[in-house]
Amino acid sequence: MYQTLLTSLENGIFIVTINRPDKMNAINKNLMSDLDEALNEIKSNSDIKAAIITGAGQKAFVAGADINEFVGLSKEQGTALAKTGQDIFFRIENSVKPIIAAVNGFALGGGCELAMACHFRVASENAKFGQPEVNLGLIPGYGGTQRLVQLVGKGRALELLMTGNMIDAGTALSYGLVNHVTPQDELLPKAKMILEQIIVKAPLAISKCIAAANAAYEGNGYEIELKSFGECFSTNDMREGTSSFLEKRKPQFKGN
Ligand code: COA
Repeated sequence: MYQTLLTSLENGIFIVTINRPDKMNAINKNLMSDLDEALNEIKSNSDIKAAIITGAGQKAFVAGADINEFVGLSKEQGTALAKTGQDIFFRIENSVKPIIAAVNGFALGGGCELAMACHFRVASENAKFGQPEVNLGLIPGYGGTQRLVQLVGKGRALELLMTGNMIDAGTALSYGLVNHVTPQDELLPKAKMILEQIIVKAPLAISKCIAAANAAYEGNGYEIELKSFGECFSTNDMREGTSSFLEKRKPQFKGN
């Protein structure tokens, strides 16, 4: 069903593997539209509780947008290309189900932007991050200038954006760009282990954490927190969570 992705679903965790290893998993038009389709599947399939995005092979997560597709584009076509990427990456960021990146190698350009659109990132020791667009006479167009500033601060972001230099996984960890660094073969187990802890919590509360954290960058974070906190009181899951604590038993959340 997907031309450029491999997918699997195991115990509620949907693994989306970007699968163009001979092209360093570069994002071409087909891949972008497959990602959009995968987001539809994540949203609509109630068996999917959370997702991991990773890359095929041991070398690249995603080495950027497919540079072949840039050739001969007009200003308007360039803007349209960025708009498509931004819209799809917004869908990842605003997904009501957690989506995390398991960065297994190069995350460059659109690959770094894809990882940053995810709710958080886990990386293997060989991962490398960068926004090398200036080498091509370009800037990031899929939200990279904004999310990099949010995640690592303006000074570090501008150094990365203007030099085009790559940073290794250890530096990414010290910048707060990734939450954990693991050996390559422990990457997916680590990502799954974190999601296993999340998916047993109340799904509506998880969605509201995502929305409130996203709102921190939109100027209305406290308002969204207030509204979301109040809304939790009308959920069965909040009643179940509080009564299970008081009754000293494990909660059984149903997502309503
Ligand atoms: N777009 C299109 N093709 C890409 C690509 C991209 N972003 N990144 C890698 N590829 C292709 C290469 O052209 C090559 O294809 P070929 O075998 O048909 O010649 C193949 O993937 C392997 O890449 P190669 O450069 O030979 O591997 P490497 O190990 O020497 O270098 C990278 C790996 C990631 C450092 C290097 O490929 C690179 O710098 N890629 C571009 C990164 C970039 O500028 N991204 C931002 C794009 S906006």
